Amino acid sequence: MVSSAALVADLLGFDPDAPHRVGLRPSVAEALARAAPGDVVPARDGETAVAVVVLPDGRAFAIDDRCPHDGGQLSDGWLDGDRLVCARHAWEVDPCSGRCDRRPWDIVPVRRLVR
Ligand code: FES
Repeated sequence: MVSSAALVADLLGFDPDAPHRVGLRPSVAEALARAAPGDVVPARDGETAVAVVVLPDGRAFAIDDRCPHDGGQLSDGWLDGDRLVCARHAWEVDPCSGRCDRRPWDIVPVRRLVR
């Protein structure tokens, strides 16, 4: 039997326990080619689910698609200035460094992309 919380999380697409469907995502290069400044889009880096983030100034990063709080997909989030906001509980992650002020010891892997 599926719990109501799991069902709601799944319907909203925020189930941190669900495997990321990495194979269905575009590659980082494909996602980056389509992304505009201010965009946050899901992509895959090999077998790793990532979020491609293009800051308003055009700098671009690929950050592992897992929030340090509770595993939400960062690619469901949005940018608030230069901060990546997780859609689940609005924790903020610096997409340049992978640091989260609320959990500074848990750095999310990130790499700079060249357009
Ligand atoms: S899972 Fe990202 S803020 Fe909670």
